[in-house]
Parts: sequence; structure tokens; C-alpha cells
Amino acid sequence: MRNVTLSGGLEMPLVGVGTFLLSPDDAQASVGEALRAGYRLVDTANAYMNEKAVGRALRASGLDREEVFLESKLWPAFYEQPDGVERAMARLGVDTLDLMLLHHPTRNYMTGYTQLEEALRAGHIRAIGLSNFSVSQLEYVLRRCRVRPEVVQVQLHPYMQQRELAAFLKREGIALQAWYPLGHGDGKLLKEPVFTRLAEKYGKTPAQVILRWHLDAGHGFVVGSRDRAHLREDLDILDFSLTEDELAEIAALDRGYSYSFTTQAMLNTYSLFVPPVAEQK
Ligand SMILES: NC(=O)c1ccc[n+]([C@@H]2O[C@H](COP(=O)([O-])OP(=O)(O)OC[C@H]3O[C@@H](n4cnc5c(N)ncnc54)[C@H](OP(=O)(O)O)[C@@H]3O)[C@@H](O)[C@H]2O)c1
Repeated sequence: MRNVTLSGGLEMPLVGVGTFLLSPDDAQASVGEALRAGYRLVDTANAYMNEKAVGRALRASGLDREEVFLESKLWPAFYEQPDGVERAMARLGVDTLDLMLLHHPTRNYMTGYTQLEEALRAGHIRAIGLSNFSVSQLEYVLRRCRVRPEVVQVQLHPYMQQRELAAFLKREGIALQAWYPLGHGDGKLLKEPVFTRLAEKYGKTPAQVILRWHLDAGHGFVVGSRDRAHLREDLDILDFSLTEDELAEIAALDRGYSYSFTTQAMLNTYSLFVPPVAEQK
């Protein structure tokens, strides 16, 4: 497993498994299978409503807590709650979280960020970060924070390569983690001729070529799957690498295309929506 050393010294695996849109049963099965396959980073969120199930999968794995890098995301409605992080830890059934991200840059994000700083100071979390923040929002946080964010998670795949943000994060020494690394499984992306050709050349699948591109482009990712064979395949990407010419060819696929769409009006509703986290299975 390949790691990146975060600015605070923590080692974070570059490859992780995500649990977005998975029911508690599916999340437990997927995380359990992923841990058996060798994944050592698990990504969840308050809003995925599966933190309890992720915790069950971790405990059932038989792995020591410190062997798995566990990350979750604080939902905007909880940014004002001093115990939002502790409640997430209780649902997960853990004493510490490796990484907690603010899920979205809603208007109250500095309040949320202060909660993360407090949780870090109290020893509840080992690193803090941000999800779905733009360069200008990151600059704002960096000007005002007491503790710098160590990880930023954003949508990133060959159709949306986030080059400006990636360059900014590199300059700032902040690790980048991609969500939707396979474009949410989009058939058009997976069938791009360049990936079919490179898959043949390297004896891999197009999905493996795309995931390898993420590593060769210099960042990690969290991938989602309900399929045991896919989970194993998605981890088996360390025995080849792409050439400079191949990376340039993939760079040309960038079209700033997003598979999801968030407006300011939607962000405003996120702050008001309280996910019924206590009711989850
Ligand atoms: N921060 C945020 O706001 C945010 C938003 C969205 C997602 N995320 C994170 O990103 C993670 C990944 O998102 P995602 O799962 O929606 O997108 P994704 O990883 O880009 O794509 C998952 C899709 O690709 C398919 N797939 C996986 N491996 C494959 C393979 N080897 N060959 C062919 N198809 C394959 C899966 O189908 P099968 O089940 O059939 O394998 C699934 O349909 C989430 O779980 C979550 O942790 C974060």
C-alpha cells in the first residue's frame, strides 16, 4: 500500500474505499470486503448514514484500530455543534478518527472549522481537512485558521482534473484526495479509447488505468464498489505506471466536466438539513 505523509507527519494511504450511497448493510459488506482485500483507508460521512455500519465492519475485520486510516465528514448542520465530532466517533465506535473533513463550504464553514481545530486539540482526531472547497475558500481558511488543513477531498477524474486546485494544494503542502475517481462509474469515461488501449498494453482493465493515472498525477482517491472483484481490481494498480506521453494524452481529456451540481441555494439547504444520524442501523 502506498502512503502520503501529511504535513503533520501522519501517514495516509493513497488508495481508499468510499461508502457514498451505500445502505448500512451494503456499507458493512463493502468495507469488510475491502479490508480483507487490503484497503487500509475507509471514507464515510455523517450524511451517508452508515457510520455505525462502517464501525461494525472495522471491528469485525480483526484489524487493530491503528492499522486502518478512518475518515469521516462533518455535515454543515453540525458545524455549530461542539460535540459533532464526538458524536460521529460514538457512531463509529472509535476513540479517535484519523481525519475529519468539513463536507461542504456552507456559509458557516469557519465555525465548523473551529470545531475541527478543537477536536484536534482534544485528541479526538489526528488530522483535519476540507471537502468541496475552492481555491479562494481555501485561501480564506488558511488566512484565518490556527491549524492548517492537511487534506482536501474534491471531485476529480480524467474529465475534471482540477489542475488549478491541485497546483495550489501542492504549493501549500496539502494532500489531495479524489472523489468519483472513476467518474461515478460512467461508461463513457471507462470506454474512452485511450483507456482501452492502455489497458491492453499493461494487461489491466480501463478502471485500473484510470486509478493508476490518479497516483501518477500525484494524488490519492477513494473509490466505491459493491463488487468484490472490482474492489480487488481497484487495489491492484501498483505493478505498472504510465509514461509521460500517456499522462499527456489523458491530460487532454480534461473538460471540467462535473457529475454533480451544487448551487449556493443547495448549500444553504445543507446547513438546515439535519440528517437523522441517531436513527441509523
Ligand atoms: N466529499 C464528497 O462530497 C463526496 C461526494 C461523492 C463521493 N465521495 C466519496 O467518493 C467515493 C467514491 O464515489 P463513487 O463510488 O460514487 O464513485 P466512483 O468510485 O468514481 O465510481 C463507483 C462506480 O464505479 C464502479 N466501479 C468500481 N470499480 C470498478 C471497476 N474496477 N470496473 C468497473 N466499474 C467499477 C462501481 O460499480 P460496482 O459497484 O459494480 O463496482 C460504481 O458504480 C464515495 O464512496 C465517497 O466516499 C465524496
